[in-house]
Amino acid sequence: MRTQVGIVGAGPAGLLLSQLLHLQGIETVILERRSREYVEGRIRAGVLEQGTVDLLEEAQVGARMRRLGLVHEGIEISFRGERHRIDFRALTGKTVTVYGQTEITRDLIAARLGAGGKIVFEAEDVSVHDFDRDRPKIRFRKDGRARELVCDFIGGCDGFHGVCRGSVPQDALTVHERTYPFAWLGILSQTPPVSDELIYCHHERGFALFSMRSPGLSRLYIQCAPDESLDQWPDARIWDELRARLGGDAAAALQSGPSLEKSVTPMRSFVAEPMRFGRLFLAGDAAHIVPPTGAKGLNLAVADVRVLARALAEFYASGRSDLIEAYSDTCVRRVWKAQRFSWWMTSMLHRFPGRNPFEDQLQLAELDYVTGSKAASTALAENYVGLPLQ
Ligand code: APR
Ligand code: PHB
Repeated sequence: MRTQVGIVGAGPAGLLLSQLLHLQGIETVILERRSREYVEGRIRAGVLEQGTVDLLEEAQVGARMRRLGLVHEGIEISFRGERHRIDFRALTGKTVTVYGQTEITRDLIAARLGAGGKIVFEAEDVSVHDFDRDRPKIRFRKDGRARELVCDFIGGCDGFHGVCRGSVPQDALTVHERTYPFAWLGILSQTPPVSDELIYCHHERGFALFSMRSPGLSRLYIQCAPDESLDQWPDARIWDELRARLGGDAAAALQSGPSLEKSVTPMRSFVAEPMRFGRLFLAGDAAHIVPPTGAKGLNLAVADVRVLARALAEFYASGRSDLIEAYSDTCVRRVWKAQRFSWWMTSMLHRFPGRNPFEDQLQLAELDYVTGSKAASTALAENYVGLPLQ
C-alpha cells in the first residue's frame, strides 16, 4: 500500500490532519488501533477556543458544531462560598464554544469516510520505520494479515500511549514531566446544567467543576485521589460531594440523576521535544499532555495540526521544506504557554494534600486578585479563549 501521509491514530489530531490535507489534495491513510464504535463513544473534554472553532469551519466540519455548540461568553470561579464571573467577551472580545470532543470526532469521521477517505480501524501491532530516510513505512496487522504502508511522511497522532513517540531514539528526545497528587473523577449525567456557564470551584474539600454538553446534559468533575477506585463512588456520594463543594443556592438547585459515564482522569503535565524526527511528526497528546483545568488539551492538538497541515501543503505545492523544519519550534513555543496556563489554573484551584496554611492563604489571595483586578482577570481570559495561533 502507498500513500502520501500515513497517520497513526484517529483521535481529533489524526482525523483533522487527514481532513485538512484532503482539502489540499493530499492523500492520507489513517491507522487506528480501536474500533470506530469505541473511538466515537469516548467521552473527553469539550471547550473550544475561537481559533479551534474557526479551523473546524475552515475544515468544512462545522455544521453540527454551529447548530449544537453552546457559545459561552465567560466562566464563573467560586471560592470562599461566593461566585465571581470572568467576562471573556468584555475583557478580550472573544468567546469559547462548548461542544464535546466526542461530537468533533464523529463529525470528522463522517467527513473523511463520506469523501472516500481511508481509515483502517482495528489496525493491530502498528509500528513506524525508516522515518530518518526518504521512504518511511508503517507496518501493521489487519484481520490477522501483515501489511505495510509506504509513505512520504508519518503523522504521529496516536495519543499519549501511542507507539510513535517511543519509536524515536531516546537520546533524540527531551521529556519534561510533572504529575499532580490528585485526579478528577468525572461523570456525565442527563440533568440540566446548574448554571449557563462553567463553574470552577475552589473548596477546602477539593476542586469541583460544573460543565455541560447541552441544555439537558451535565459534565461534572470532583478532585479525588490519584488512585481513586470508582467502586468507592456510588452516584449518590458524587452528588453529595458536588453539592458540598458548590455551596449556596446553586447547591440546592443542583438536580441529580443517574450517571451515563464515570471515569477517573489522572493529572499530568508532559512535553516531549522536538516534535519532529526526520519525516515523523508528533502532534497532539503524542507530544504533550496538560492537566484539564485550563481546557487546553484538544485546542493544543488542533493548533499543532494546523501548523503541520500548512507545512506539508507548502512542501507538496512548492517543494519548500522550511515550514517542515520550523514545525517543532513553532508548536513547542505555544505548547509551553498552554502548559504554563494549565499548571497555573491547576495550582490555583486544587487542594494540595499536605500543604501548609501559608500556601493556602496565598492561593486565596491569588483568587481574590484574579477575580478583583481587571488586569489579572484579562490575563486569565486571554489564555482561556486562546492565545494567537502562531
Ligand atoms: N496504533 C494505532 N492507533 C493508536 C495506537 C497505536 N499503537 N495507540 C493509540 N492509538 C490511537 C488511540 O486509540 C486514539 O484513537 O490514537 C488515537 C489518539 O487520540 P487521542 O488520544 O484523542 O489524542 P489526540 O488526537 O492527540 O487528541 C487530543 O485532546 O482533550 C484532549 O486528551 C484529549 O484526546 C484528547 C486530546
Ligand atoms: C469538560 O466539559 O469536559 C471540561 C470543561 C472545562 C475544563 C475541563 C473539562 O477545564
